[in-house]
Amino acid sequence: LEGIMTELIDGDLARSLLPPRPPDSHKGTFGKALVVAGSVHYPGAASLASAGAARVGAGLVTLAVGRSQLVGPGRIPEVTLHPLPEAEWGVLGDAAADEMLAILGDYQALLVGPGLGREKATRAFFERLLGLQSPRHRGQIGFRIATAGSEKAAVKQRPELPFTVIDADGLNILADLIHHPEPSNAAFGAVWDRLPMGRCVLTPHPGEMRRLLGVEQIAEHPVDVAKDAAARWKQIVVLKGATTVIADPEGRVRVNDGGNPALATAGTGDVLAGAIAGLLAQGLKPFDAATLGVYLHSAAGRLVRDELGDMGTLAGDLLPRLPLAIR
Ligand code: APR
Ligand code: MG
Repeated sequence: LEGIMTELIDGDLARSLLPPRPPDSHKGTFGKALVVAGSVHYPGAASLASAGAARVGAGLVTLAVGRSQLVGPGRIPEVTLHPLPEAEWGVLGDAAADEMLAILGDYQALLVGPGLGREKATRAFFERLLGLQSPRHRGQIGFRIATAGSEKAAVKQRPELPFTVIDADGLNILADLIHHPEPSNAAFGAVWDRLPMGRCVLTPHPGEMRRLLGVEQIAEHPVDVAKDAAARWKQIVVLKGATTVIADPEGRVRVNDGGNPALATAGTGDVLAGAIAGLLAQGLKPFDAATLGVYLHSAAGRLVRDELGDMGTLAGDLLPRLPLAIR
């Protein structure tokens, strides 16, 4: 590890980042997170991600899902639901994005991606939600809101994007948009320039990172890969693995060294993405939310291993241990 810009995340650093919990607080004190996740094949991602946000102390978590996906596995009752219109069964499209844009202003944090799928319509949903289309289709035009009893739509200005975690299929769609742009959209400059600078936390595992970079193999050291990506993309990058590297556009790097096979199971990434969104909702800066989220996820993983062992553990086992990790 090189220089003073790289630090190892330890308990003291994590503790210093925990948001205060004043006795006279109410749920509004701890912010609202909006999660859009899940699809026909990945209903559990929506449950895990939204519960992850709730389990790190967000005041309210709303899960936005396609109407056909309202009933999901292991949903905690505390997560509220926002049903979205579907382009086809279980697939979100343009209309869902407009619905999201209409409610986005109520939330301090957004998580988009876990288990979302990569259908053509879902790609359009993602582009529209994040304002990645050509300028002609973006801010000036805004989004449609259906007016009562009429198909005629009013047009409203886009709201500012809340602090946003992009994970899993959100990252895969982003990679698609970068490396296989629609011809009509290819002429409008880098996709990265269309995202609000420094407001997004990207959480790729090495496979997703390869897709984003458009390379077969990541040759360099993970610290360099994450640092370069954060600088070029002007966003916070969380490159996940047994060792996880968090980098910001200014060149700061934080490393979580927490090899633990109890975490090497499907769905743990969804819990992490939710946890980071839950911390963003509470007002942590993106680099700090990513740092604390990664540390708490890792610490909860240690509690899982201590209690249950390291074989046959489930991503959902992390959820009740996040508050213990915080304590
Ligand atoms: N030690 C410590 N942490 C680990 C370990 C390990 N040995 N293995 C995994 N983790 C952590 C990672 O750091 C990360 O936080 O578990 C999480 C795994 O996240 P993802 O790789 O995103 O996996 P997840 O999304 O839960 O699983 C489904 O499988 O094939 C992929 O792309 C597919 O995203 C999909 C994923
Ligand atoms: Mg994942």
